[in-house]
Amino acid sequence: MSTEDITIHRGLSGVYFDRSATTFIDGKEGVLEYRGYNINELAVHSTFEETGYLLIHGELPTQAQLDEFTAELKAARELPEQIFDVIEIVKDSHPMDALRTAVSALASFDPDRNDNSIEATIHKGMRLTSQVPLIVMAHHNIRDGRDPIKPRDDLNHAGNFLYMMDGKEPSEQAIDLMDKDFVLHADHGSNASAFTARVVAGTAADIHGAVTAGIAALSGPSHGGAAENVMQMAREIGKPENAAAYVQNLLSNRQRVMGFGHRVYKAEDPRAGHLREGVKNLSAEMGQPEWYLILEAVVKAMQPYARRGIHVNVDFFAGVIYYLNGVPQDLFVPIFAVGRIPGWTIQVVEQFEHNILIRPLLKYTGDRELKYVPISERG
Ligand code: ACO
Repeated sequence: MSTEDITIHRGLSGVYFDRSATTFIDGKEGVLEYRGYNINELAVHSTFEETGYLLIHGELPTQAQLDEFTAELKAARELPEQIFDVIEIVKDSHPMDALRTAVSALASFDPDRNDNSIEATIHKGMRLTSQVPLIVMAHHNIRDGRDPIKPRDDLNHAGNFLYMMDGKEPSEQAIDLMDKDFVLHADHGSNASAFTARVVAGTAADIHGAVTAGIAALSGPSHGGAAENVMQMAREIGKPENAAAYVQNLLSNRQRVMGFGHRVYKAEDPRAGHLREGVKNLSAEMGQPEWYLILEAVVKAMQPYARRGIHVNVDFFAGVIYYLNGVPQDLFVPIFAVGRIPGWTIQVVEQFEHNILIRPLLKYTGDRELKYVPISERG
């Protein structure tokens, strides 16, 4: 084939690279399903633990199966002592960098570290599901000079996560919203971080390597980093009446409005509506309705762009919910990672089930057949 005939799919946009029975997305209609169940049903009726089971095992659990799954997750709420030392060493980094480093280090301590079977990978993924929240909150406390808060096994995943932030009993409403947020973030097909995890798994490397790489991919502002930037934007806007001018200024400088646009969704991201309700209710209850009003003013200012398929994405409303729950801004992306571990786990498992090295091509555009010139003769 001549190089002229090569078609390049930059960013692999629109390219199908494999099959998956995990997550269905219709970007045009704004539909998301995990294992055939619509996200709108799961967001309202399911829990993070049940959704994790669904993603990993392919069907909704019976009560006994859910109890066993939840017990395994709770039993894994501990970190080796050495991981606290690792966190201490990197305590001044961004929480995503600390998380990436600690997850990588965890590989050395996992009881199944030399076992890359599907079964061991599922158990490692479940341990990571419980350990990642511990790492995020241990780093949060250690960097502020406090001892990490021990996990509680009488709380669910979401409740324990919030509790470990400051040792205070989280409200039922805060737990429910966090749980919903984790359900909404649990998987999303071959997004940048899951694809990264699959590329690593494609070489038959282990799940700790795949999740470490997934965390690195998630940390960027084009992916998970957007929630942090949305909160920053809301703070800078300050008042709803400033939103239109602020957005206009960004767009006329060809900058992006964070929390808008998506590679796949050209309709509204179906996850966003659930968090929109959360922001509306929580900001009203906490006597800070301005946050909801600022966000809605941004949505209004972006209305003309809806025709071009640019709508709010899941990150747009998430940040304000975290903020109202007292979560520091730089923990917003790690929260995304906490929710995404079951998704990365099942993506790695699927990759292992029919493994193939993922190795696309680049069209070469540089010089060719140059003659090597010794360094003494280069002018
Ligand atoms: N604000 C303003 N314009 C936008 C935005 C936005 N947020 N998103 C896309 N556009 C415009 C682009 O400028 C481009 O316009 P042009 O054709 O005139 O140059 C057009 O829409 C297409 O944009 P692309 O970058 O080609 O679309 P892509 O699919 O590659 O981008 C992405 C998707 C990276 C998410 C983009 O929409 C973006 O940067 N959004 C802001 C960051 C964000 O919210 N990220 C979170 C994504 S959701 C998630 O990861 C969970």
